[in-house]
Amino acid sequence: MRRSNSGKLVIVSVLIVAVVSIAVYYFLNSNDSEITIQSPSHFDVPLDTGITTVQGASLGRLLFNDPLLSRHQKISCASCHQQTASYADYNKQFSTGDRGLLTKRNAPVLINLIWKSHYFADGRAQRLEQTILNAIKDTLELNSDMDLIVERIRQHPVYNKKLKNIFQIKEVEADHIINVMTQYLRTLNSWDSNYDRMRQGTYVFTEPEKQGQLLFEQQCTSCHIPPFFQDSTPILTTDGQKLLSPSLRNIKYSGPYMHDGRFKTLDSLLAQHPYEFPQETHRKKLSPEEHQSILIFLNTLTDEQFSNPNSY
Ligand code: HEC
Ligand code: HEC
Repeated sequence: MRRSNSGKLVIVSVLIVAVVSIAVYYFLNSNDSEITIQSPSHFDVPLDTGITTVQGASLGRLLFNDPLLSRHQKISCASCHQQTASYADYNKQFSTGDRGLLTKRNAPVLINLIWKSHYFADGRAQRLEQTILNAIKDTLELNSDMDLIVERIRQHPVYNKKLKNIFQIKEVEADHIINVMTQYLRTLNSWDSNYDRMRQGTYVFTEPEKQGQLLFEQQCTSCHIPPFFQDSTPILTTDGQKLLSPSLRNIKYSGPYMHDGRFKTLDSLLAQHPYEFPQETHRKKLSPEEHQSILIFLNTLTDEQFSNPNSY
């Protein structure tokens, strides 16, 4: 009698241990489960479909915000790319880098990057990894180098351990650091605007918004193509540069505008743009009323949550 009872006890205990182990295993795994990048049906499939995990992207986010990456440990990626400004530099024409000097270009928004084929105003990078390395090495940005960063991270109790865990490695190398930062950039996506709701059939444009959309389609979509409102075909500018058409999503938060931040407001921009381009001089200039109408449409591209630090 006793024996069979203790036998049962052993079996039950073994079962309990097995169930708990499986649960813990799944819990730990689900803690670093792969993130499937969500997107609405009016978005195409992303061009960058690299693997992104919860722990990878979260660590990337910490590094994005950590001055450890800059040579003098004073500035981080987030110093120039702030969430409240849709990851542009709030109200700054140019940004201050590690040496206290200004960048040559206006810091752009970081939005829906995995749907872009070319990065930077001139499209010189085709992969997110390149944009990170560029920021690290640029003497007007982080002014740093990968060897220095790898050394610092190997000394760092938290980052070193986390990276080793994520990649199951003995020693952290440059690629692992760039990899988690790329993962974070892949998560900076926005599709929660009235424009998106309209496309999904859950919001109906007001009459002024419809008029604005019509004008926008006539004047702007050849270069700012929905639903990303950008294009990677270079446009020749008056001073002989070839520049891509940037995204207009959350444009409300990312002033001043253009690669050189020359327009403080959208009003002043629309008075000259796009007529300033040699190929666009034939266009009839719009009236101030028509500009207002376009501004009403541009406002439908605002995703409040995306620029709200409490939402992340
Ligand atoms: C000192 C300010 C500054 C810092 C720090 C900085 N950036 Fe930037 N970033 C810029 C500027 C300016 C540009 C535009 C450069 C150009 O177009 O040539 C840019 C462009 C980019 C782009 C291209 C976006 C696009 O859509 O084309 C990405 C991505 C980016 N930065 C990510 C980062 C990351 C990641 C870091 C940190 C490793 C970082 N940046 C640090 C100023 C900065
Ligand atoms: C021929 C192509 C073309 C057309 C048409 C065009 N744009 Fe642009 N747009 C561009 C390019 C290229 C830039 C970047 C110029 C620069 O950085 O100097 C730009 C920049 C902008 C910016 C600033 C974005 C930023 O982040 O700084 C806004 C806003 C804008 N365009 C709105 C419009 C609107 C509204 C229309 C229609 C009235 C329009 N564009 C028509 C090509 C075009």
